[in-house]
Amino acid sequence: LIQSGAGVSIEASGGLGPAFVNELSELLNEFRFVVLKNGPKSLEDAVELMRQFGPINEAETRKQGAVMVEDKLEDEAEVFRSRFALPLHKDGVLTGFDVVTVGIYCAAFTEVEGGRTYVSDAMRALAEIPPEQVESLRSNGLEGMAVDSTGYYREEYEGVWHPFPAFKAKAGCEPTLNIGLPPEEGEPASWQVRVAGVEKEESDAILGSLRRWLLADEYTYFHDWKEGDLVLMDNYQVLHGREAWSGRARQLANIQVLSAPV
Ligand SMILES: [Fe+2]
Repeated sequence: LIQSGAGVSIEASGGLGPAFVNELSELLNEFRFVVLKNGPKSLEDAVELMRQFGPINEAETRKQGAVMVEDKLEDEAEVFRSRFALPLHKDGVLTGFDVVTVGIYCAAFTEVEGGRTYVSDAMRALAEIPPEQVESLRSNGLEGMAVDSTGYYREEYEGVWHPFPAFKAKAGCEPTLNIGLPPEEGEPASWQVRVAGVEKEESDAILGSLRRWLLADEYTYFHDWKEGDLVLMDNYQVLHGREAWSGRARQLANIQVLSAPV
């Protein structure tokens, strides 16, 4: 689906049993993300499918194994589950969960303008970033601050800058980007991120390069949702984000497979 070689789209034909899960798992290894069209018939089926990949995140904030991202919020200031854009990120950075695989399931998508989810082939795009910027990122690390106070993000990030490494390795693998980009100018923020220990200009330059290359055409795929679609992503290889939307109903479920049960 992306020029860089990431992403493949398949139709779910037949059942979603173990043989199909094997096929999905091999595709995920090879292509880093998989778009499954006409997938699970319900959210419950989507969670059960994801459960075959490993332990599902069923923390207090994730009832029935999923977080619903829609626009019926009690707290109107919340950005995370809203109709506002969410910048490119890896799941788990500010929540502290070690998320190996992310599944996003489309439960409803009716008369919506915008609202695409996009996926960046992040580790390939990183090869385009000036080496001194990558080195600064690696050696200084990042700092993040949670702006939404929904209970999703870890307490130590709430309203204060908290350090975290810009790269993180899955067991037995090379470290990969561990990042959420800051919101664009004028966009409501769910979080803020900066490069630690450097002047604002340097941080802005590095994050600007990242934004430019991570979102370059040759490294990015934009998904137009249809009900029943399930997008599976290797959370250590690709990053994802969403566009703002308006219109009637957009209901996506975020399902996370963890490295180990919590
Ligand atoms: Fe996410």
